[in-house]
Amino acid sequence: MALTCKRAMSRLKQDALKCFATSRRLQAPLIQVERVDPSTSVAKALKRKYGPSSWDGQVPWERGSMIVPQVAESDVEEFIQQELDSFAPMQPRPLSMQEVLDMLDPQRIAKFLHVEVPIRIAERIRWIREIENWQDIPELVEIEDAHVHVFRDFRLVQRKPTLDAFTAVVERAMQKQQPVRLKVALAMHRLHTQRGDDFTSEFIDPWLDNFLLNCIGTEMLMSQYLACVIMESDTKPQKLAGIVDPDCDIAQICRETAMHVQEITEEHTGRTPKIEVKEFHDKAVPRFSYIPGFLRFIMTEVLKNSCRATAEVAKSDREVQKRPIEVIVCADDHEVAIRVCDRARGIPFGVGQKVWSYLYTTAGKGKSSKGYADTATSLAGYGIGLPLSRLYARYFGGTLKLVSLPGYGTSVDLFLRRVNANQVEIVPDNDA
Ligand SMILES: Nc1ncnc2c1ncn2[C@@H]1O[C@H](COP(=O)(O)OP(=O)(O)O)[C@@H](O)[C@H]1O
Ligand SMILES: [Mg+2]
Repeated sequence: MALTCKRAMSRLKQDALKCFATSRRLQAPLIQVERVDPSTSVAKALKRKYGPSSWDGQVPWERGSMIVPQVAESDVEEFIQQELDSFAPMQPRPLSMQEVLDMLDPQRIAKFLHVEVPIRIAERIRWIREIENWQDIPELVEIEDAHVHVFRDFRLVQRKPTLDAFTAVVERAMQKQQPVRLKVALAMHRLHTQRGDDFTSEFIDPWLDNFLLNCIGTEMLMSQYLACVIMESDTKPQKLAGIVDPDCDIAQICRETAMHVQEITEEHTGRTPKIEVKEFHDKAVPRFSYIPGFLRFIMTEVLKNSCRATAEVAKSDREVQKRPIEVIVCADDHEVAIRVCDRARGIPFGVGQKVWSYLYTTAGKGKSSKGYADTATSLAGYGIGLPLSRLYARYFGGTLKLVSLPGYGTSVDLFLRRVNANQVEIVPDNDA
């Protein structure tokens, strides 16, 4: 009941803001509601399929769409700033895996993205601007500027007569997003170094969790759109549904990732730890709809940590072989579980939950005269591997946990939901 009231209030707030925006600048209405006729068989079938559990009873592509206003060149800057104020309080619309799979038509997903991406981007810009004197941190200035550009592009692009201009905007946005994760981590390290009293891990960790989780969601939506555009123009039979693999073979992904991480470890330490991938299943084969890129990311980071620790703890190649890293893959009808265990002496008790902090890393120690970014390598050192992997796991409702047995080793458990309808995006929103 409380939730319904809150949503209704939020909708009123959004409508009021839209009216405000319209009356201030534009003769034409800013928002044009294009709904699917509820009497059509498609809408009825979708309703039957999703029932009342769908967001407001509406499938994502039924939501009202933006029309692009005519703004004189000289008024664009002011228009964008006002739009940012209007969009930041709007609520994002999380998708379930099933909805992602149902939105493979580029027109459909473009319509959803055209509204959703600016909402999520505006929220991130607001978070940056809320940091006191954010303009003094060069990385924050760069990120803010890149975000405003993306927001502007999305607000001014047309989806008609063809999707070409919209696709170019999405491609540009993806390019601009690319360096953001590392840059925002650098920005937070800089804030911590320069103004440590105000920017402790109590502030930085949840701030980065929200910011990066929002990035993961926006990137997922945009990558999915681009993959759908490519799929539409490709005549070959497809296994993937956009970036989602409806039949994701987790054991195979673990094996491929293990080989890749062994190569990285060899390159940086001269040692190649042994990794054994074991599959256990009763009747349920551990396959499900998931984004292989997400699983690869998580497994790469977790295995890099185990491989680095094993290579550092072992005094010889023979000792490395005596400390194999085990990857156990199993599943039931609802969940998939992956456990990574190493025998690299674990993490001291005193570290505790700090391993999940973006500010915590033991790599590059002893080179302390150098900055954090100068000592980091592709193996370790940015301190974001574990917290970012946990975000990828959480994004569709999964979990990532770590247990350390100091003196013995570390065990990391990854649980992912298998049922499409239960895999729902977590999208942080200050107005929710
Ligand atoms: N399996 C492990 N064995 C020992 N230490 C680990 C392990 N996993 C993580 N750690 C510790 O946690 C720290 C943070 O890990 P992570 O977030 O991946 O950042 P990074 O690897 O860049 O340092 C590592 O520097 C290391 O000290
Ligand atoms: Mg790491």
